[in-house]
Parts: sequence; structure tokens; C-alpha cells
Amino acid sequence: MGLGITHTPGLTMKWFLFFVLAIGLGLCSSTVNSVSGYNYYRLPTALRPQKYYLRILTFLENPDDLRFAGTVKILIEALENTRNITLHSKNLTIDESQITLRQVSGEGRKDNCVSSTSVNPSQDYYILNTCEELLAGNVYKLSLPFSADLSRQLFGYYRSSYKDPVANVTRWLSSTQFEPAWARKAFPCFDEPSYKASFVVTLGYHKKLTALSNMPIKETKPHESLPNYVWSQFEESVPMSTYLVAYSVNDFANKPSTLPNGALFRTWARPNAIDQCDFAAEFGPRVLQYYEQFFGIKFPLPKIDQIAVPDFSAGAMENWGLVTYRESTLLFSEGHSSLADKQDLANVVAHELAHQWFGNLVTMKWWTDLWLNEGFATYVAGLGVHNIHPDWHSKDRGSLQSMMASFRLDSLVSSHPVSRPIQMVTEIEESFDAISYQKGSSVLRMMHLFMGEEAFRSGLKQYLQLYTYKNAEQDDLWVSLTQAAHRNGSLPRNYEIKTIMDSWTLQTGYPVVNVTRDYTAKSARLSQERYLRNTQIPRDQRVGCWWVPLSYTTEKEKDFSNTVPKAWMECSRNGESLPKTIYDLPGSDQWVIFNTQLSTPYKVNYDAQNWKLLIETLNSEDFESIHVINRAQLIDDILYFAWTGEQDYETALQVTNYLQRERDLLPWRAAFNNLKLLNRILRQTPNFGLFKSYMKKLLSPIYEHLNGMNDTFSSIQQQNEILLKTTVVDWACQYQVSDCVPRAQSYFRRWKSEANPDEKNPIPINFRSTVYCTAIRHGTDEDWDFLWTRYKKSNVGSEQQTILATLGCSREVWILQRYLEMAFNPKGGIRKQDSTLVFQAVASRQIGILLAKKYFMENVELIHKYYYPQTRTMSRLLKPFSEQVITTGDLNEFRTFTISSQKYLKGVRQAIQQTLETMLTNVQWKERNYQHFSRSIQQHLNNIPTSLEHLQKSTIKRNLNKLLVNI
Ligand code: BES
Ligand code: ZN
Repeated sequence: MGLGITHTPGLTMKWFLFFVLAIGLGLCSSTVNSVSGYNYYRLPTALRPQKYYLRILTFLENPDDLRFAGTVKILIEALENTRNITLHSKNLTIDESQITLRQVSGEGRKDNCVSSTSVNPSQDYYILNTCEELLAGNVYKLSLPFSADLSRQLFGYYRSSYKDPVANVTRWLSSTQFEPAWARKAFPCFDEPSYKASFVVTLGYHKKLTALSNMPIKETKPHESLPNYVWSQFEESVPMSTYLVAYSVNDFANKPSTLPNGALFRTWARPNAIDQCDFAAEFGPRVLQYYEQFFGIKFPLPKIDQIAVPDFSAGAMENWGLVTYRESTLLFSEGHSSLADKQDLANVVAHELAHQWFGNLVTMKWWTDLWLNEGFATYVAGLGVHNIHPDWHSKDRGSLQSMMASFRLDSLVSSHPVSRPIQMVTEIEESFDAISYQKGSSVLRMMHLFMGEEAFRSGLKQYLQLYTYKNAEQDDLWVSLTQAAHRNGSLPRNYEIKTIMDSWTLQTGYPVVNVTRDYTAKSARLSQERYLRNTQIPRDQRVGCWWVPLSYTTEKEKDFSNTVPKAWMECSRNGESLPKTIYDLPGSDQWVIFNTQLSTPYKVNYDAQNWKLLIETLNSEDFESIHVINRAQLIDDILYFAWTGEQDYETALQVTNYLQRERDLLPWRAAFNNLKLLNRILRQTPNFGLFKSYMKKLLSPIYEHLNGMNDTFSSIQQQNEILLKTTVVDWACQYQVSDCVPRAQSYFRRWKSEANPDEKNPIPINFRSTVYCTAIRHGTDEDWDFLWTRYKKSNVGSEQQTILATLGCSREVWILQRYLEMAFNPKGGIRKQDSTLVFQAVASRQIGILLAKKYFMENVELIHKYYYPQTRTMSRLLKPFSEQVITTGDLNEFRTFTISSQKYLKGVRQAIQQTLETMLTNVQWKERNYQHFSRSIQQHLNNIPTSLEHLQKSTIKRNLNKLLVNI
């Protein structure tokens, strides 16, 4: 075959961005040695793959030579005439002499061939120039052989391993992670989500092993030449995107849990962990069945497997029919995993199974609309878990969590719109963030609540049916939803979902709605502007207009159940916000609250009188007459406003003061979420003592009320209370409230004195994280080594995660330094998947931050190499910095570092901007609020009668009431 610099006729000039003259060759293929000028980030549109026949032989016998070899045959339809086939391939060796090309339908000569090939490594292109022009309307069959080592990274077709404790040997397995753009590392393909095709996968492997893929096995036969090897052919898949293809060769065990009339359902894990599959095996098929009803569409595949892969970079991946997980997110052990672990597990399973509809059946056209996948899966998972475990109250908790996470990130100028233009693979990776997941989920919930159940569901169903096995963009969804809402009468005829939703998905940020009441006229004037944490941004740059559905209730009405808008804040044609006045409100003796149940992602600020009325109710017996999500809203809002100066800390502390009475998890979550940031700043300042006193005062009543460190979990009825107790105890030990620290230490000592601590752990499961951390913080080298040994011997993923996170609680510099180095040392005993957890465990703490910052700056090249090219992972390392840099000097130092290390931080540009901006807001806080906040706290501590008295009275009263009820 002749080789040479290729010409690519048929491509328009705009795609010739530049000729890549000297690119690192050999990156893509050892046998290809020319380069191409086609450098546009999207594949040319002349061709469309219809079907892939993928045969892959996997070698797992020799640990020094773990590799795969295969052939892909692709049926390709020509939509336009073209002389080349451009597809994706990365780090694959392709033997060109074996490439064949043939026309399989249409008129004329059937023979064709490939005259030359070239690569464009910057776009991962492999370009085949054809001997004869491919003609529109014809179908061709291209056959390509390829091979590579099983990747040592956690994506593409990669290796994983675990220790078999019985035989005391390492067992190897293989698995895939293709989203967003790594199928190209496993086989040459058209690796874009809109090139859907059907797949016939055939896997070759040693007969003692098991092979899994998206579809069930059709037939298995012996390998033609390799003894003990077999070929298993899987059934042909439905049309799907390349990023959803998956396969694995392993020696795992499985637990079947198929429901009557349901698809075959199995849960897989290494044999020694199969007893940890029960919960996921039971939960999975139930939530799948719920979605079949919810979406009104049956799961289309004959089977679904979920598998716990020992080495896994994300939390889980929704491959169609073969969902992959980390061990810690799929496996549950009664004796080792906490309630929070269990709920997280259910949430992850519900998320991935929701993708089987949103993402797999209907897929976004391009990664710009990634949020249609992730936002939906996040939102719908909440509904799924709620349906199966209503007693967990996870829907409200999840909604609040999503709302708070998006409020945080989206108040930065460096945030981005939900729907985000994307070109580079690194940008795709960056999009898997709180905006796509949490803000995406929040705006969907908003729609659900303003449209009502029926219209929302019928719109979704119509959309899913219309685009089954196809691709869609957000506008397609808006059309279906508008039609459903109009049919249903739940949206004014002159409104369109697109107009409303574009303001939420195409525009960065969210508004603060300022409510100024006229108590005589009984009205309120509403205005909106973008809410920003950076207080240096002038007013005229806070413009923007969001279509805000206005729900509200009054002190008399207290109707928080109605989330249907009573009015709308509208935008003019050119996007300016139109003022709004609400009438028929009560007088100055009653509060109003906007945004019932926090149904829309905006913040609300009121005039002083309304805040005063709210503070009165919150601090009275009647505080529960305000819906629990709105209590959380008030706390979150006021603490934001005090931070940015719209309100003062005196007012904020009057609001948070009511927490002495609060027994529900959500307002506490909102408080902790904000207090955590204050804590991280203040603990570096001389006034931390004041803050500590304040925190002790805040925490003591609830700590006592929940019986502190006593193991009362089995008697608690409300699951939320278990979570609250877990969190409160954790905070209490940090602030050394009451007997928290000595009790934690004594639990730990009891564990240490067990004859067989790996078999028997006397520490209540829900306290373990707090107990380990407290014991390590106040403990010795020997305590650290004891816990590290437990990590090494543990057989349970979630327990291992808890230990890794708490080993960072040490205050010994040398231990922390050693721990940091272990995290990035392939032989350090910590899996690559856990390295960010370890880094965060060190970096989020007082002493650790100093070491971690230095380590990161000095070793950025090494860290970059460690993750390359999946550098997105590095963004997780930055968060602890953003929360703890509080001086201009440190901020400047970090900024200079990011500039001088640019080449190692390419995949995390967005995260760097967000980190720097967050640091700036800390600096601003310290300059503007530090003195004022300290004074307010001082005053608060002096003035308010001890909260304990309050509490004791109210606890006695409560207990009395309980007694009376029982009688
Ligand atoms: N599709 C993602 C997995 C993924 C994440 C692929 C990032 C490529 C890059 C999956 O559905 C997902 O969202 N997983 C979450 C867990 C989920 C419960 C939020 C994850 O991995 O964190
Ligand atoms: Zn997802």
C-alpha cells in the first residue's frame, strides 16, 4: 500500500485549520507514518456507521503481558461522495497490510482498497484514503485489525486486579470505561455520540473465565488455534452510541435477582465479595421496574448486569445492559457499611439505571447537552429512590443538596451555562460537574413542579418515544414539554417552555429576587439580578433575566404544598428583566415566603421587616409551621447574604439562633454547608476561639438531644435522624463538645484491644468515620499504623474509603507527608482510583493543607503524568485549596504557579479559574467581614440566654408529650 502525505478532497476549507507538520508519530500506530491536515474537532459527515462486528481476544494469563488483539468490521453507509474514511483511534497498533475495504450494496464494482493512511493525534483521527471514491447511497465494509496493551489507566479497555485471599495470589481482569471519548482507545470507531450503530461483539478468552458485554451471549465455541481459549459471540445490540459499549473478562461470581416479567438481572463481584451484593441485587430490578412504569417504556434489552470493578475511576458508568461500578458504590456489607453508604448506593444504582432511558435510549446529539444525560439521571434517581424507600426522605434531601451545590458554583463569574459549547475532549470531561448534574437536576425539578405531574410525565414520555434509538438536543425536549403543558393547561398558552428554560440553561448563574413589601398597600415589588459571590463585580455586570415561576405563601396561609406559580417574573424580548408587583399580601404583622419548597434555583432577599417577622417565627414554638425545605432555604440564603454584605451577621445569627430548636436534618445541612466555609477561614485567625465557643453553643443542645455518642441508632425511627446524629457527632468531636472526643477515643481503644479486629469492630457503624478521625487526630503513630493495617486487610470497599479518608486526620507532619507520597506512588498500596480521596483527606485539614499545597506545586508534573490524559481528575485536588487560601499573598502565589505550570494544568482550566475566584472571595470576606463577624459573635454569645436552658425545657416538654401520648 502506498503511503504519503494525504490529500483530503471533499472537505471544505473551514476544516483545514492548519496542517500538522511534525506531530509525535507512533502515538497512534506503529505502522502508520504520515499525518493529515484534517483538524476540525468533529468527524466529517459524509459517512455513517451502521453496524460494528467487533472481535477481541484478551490475554490475562501473564501479568507482564496483559493485552488484547482484535478486528473490527464496520458497515459504513456513504451519505455523500468521499475519498477517505476518517475515524477515531488512540494508542492502538493497526496492521495496515491487513486492512480491507469492500462495497457491500449498490451498483458497480465491489472491490475497493485503502491507498494510504494518516493520523492526526491531536484529534485522535485515523484517516484512510480509499482507492476508489465512496459513493453516496452505497454501503461499504471496512475491516481493521488492531492491538494494544490493556491500559494501565482507568479508561479505554483496561486492566484491574484483586488479591485472592485463599490462594494468596493476584487475579487479573479486564473492563472498559468509554465515556466520554475512550472507545477509540479500545477499537477504531466513529467515537461521537450521534453515530449510533448496532454492535455484534465477540470476545475471545481463557475458558476458565467469564465474559460479559452489553447483550447476552448467543454462542460459545472453542478458539480455532489457541488451546483452552473460547470465542463467545454476543447477540446483536440495539442501535447505540460508542461510549456505551462495554465488555469485561473476569472470574467473578454473580447473584441473579430477576423479577417476574423483568429482564434477566445479575449483580457481579469478585467471589470473595459476592455476599456484599444482596442489597444492590434487590434494589436494582425494583428501580428498573419503577422506571418502566414512570417512563411508560419497557427496558429494551433482554438482560442487565451490574458489576463491581476493583479499579474504577468514576463512581459508576451506565453502559447499556452492563453497568460498571466501583466496589464502594455497589457493594454493601451489613457489618461494615453505614446508612449513608446504603443510601448513596441506592442513589448510584438509581442514577445509572435512569440513564438506560435518559442517555442510552435517547442520547444527546453532542456533548454540549451532556446535562440532558446527567441532570436527568440525577433528578430521576431521586424519584426512583423515593419510590422504593419513601421512609428515607431522600427526595427532599437530594433536591436541597443539588440546589446548594449549584448555588455555590454558579455564583462564580467563572461558572458556565448548563448547556455549554464544547470542542475538545478535555472540555467534555470538564462538563461532568455540579452544573450539569446538580443545576441540571434543579432546573428539571423546577419544571416538574411548575408544570405538575401529569404534563411533565406525558411530555417526557412523548420525547422519549419520539427519539428512541436516536439523538436529541434540549430544544427537542422543550417542544414535547410545551405541547404536553398546553394540552394539560398547566402553562399559559402564550408561554413556551423554551423561552422559560433557555433563561436557565443558556445563561450562566441564577438570580437573587429582592422582595420589597409595601405594608400599607399590601403589595410587594420584586426585582431580580444575578447573584455573585465576588463583591467587586459592579451592579451593571450583574445583569441577566431569568423567567421565575413565583410561588409564595403567607404566615396565615402557610400553604407550602402548593408549588404551582401564582405569577411569573418575565423577561422582555431583548432579555431585560421586567419589574413585577404582587398584590393582596397581608399587612406588617405577617411574613411572606417566596419559592415554596425551594422549587426554583433562586435566592430571595426581603426587606428588614419581613426578615424580622421570619426571625420571630423561627425562634418561636411555631417554627415548624415553615416547611422544612424553606427553613433550610432561609438559613442558606441569609448566610450567603451576610457573606456578600446584603445583610449583616447580626441578622444572620438571629436566624441561625433558631437551630437550637431544630431537630430536622435539612436546615442543619444548610447550616453546616455554610459554617464549614467560615470554619476553614476562621481557624487560621486569632479569633477562632470565639467561633469555637459559638459552635459549641450551637452544637451542645442537639448533641445532647440526640444522645451524643451513645449507640441509640437501633431505637431511632426516622432515617434522617440517624444521618443527623452522624453529622452532629462528627461536628461535635471537631469542636470537642461534651464527652465526644474521650468517647471516640475509648471506642477506638476497644477496637484496638480486640483479639481479631478485622473480624470484630465494636464501634457503631455510623460513628466509625468520626471515631477513626478523632482517634487519629489525637492519637499516636501506632494508632495510624493500626488503622492502615485494617485498610490493607479490609474486604469492604466502603470501609476502605472511610479509613483512607480518616487517615488524613493526623496532625503529624511526617505522617501526612508520607501519606501524600503514598497516594501518587503506584507501589504505595493505594489504588489510583483512591488517590484523590487521600489527597483531599490531607488537604482539607489545617496542617495538611500546608503540606498538600506545597506537594501539589512541587509535583504538578508527576501528578499530571499520573492521571494523563484523564486530567479532569486533577480538578478534585483543587477544592481544598479554594476553601483555605484566605490571603492576597497566598492567592497571588497560587495564581503565579498556575501560570508557570500551565502545561500541566491544561485539562483543568475551568477548575483553576473557579479556584482562583473562590480564593478571592475568601480574601474579600476576611477584609470586609472578619471584624464585623467577630463582633457579632461576641455580642451573640454575651446576649442570648444559654441555649441549653431553652433546650432542656423543650426536651422535657417533648418527652412529657411523648409520655402523655403513650399513656
Ligand atoms: N456517566 C457517568 C460516569 C462518568 C463520569 C463518565 C464522568 C465519564 C466521566 C455516570 O452516570 C455518573 O454520573 N456517575 C457518577 C455517580 C452518580 C451517582 C452521580 C460518578 O461517577 O460520580
Ligand atoms: Zn450519570
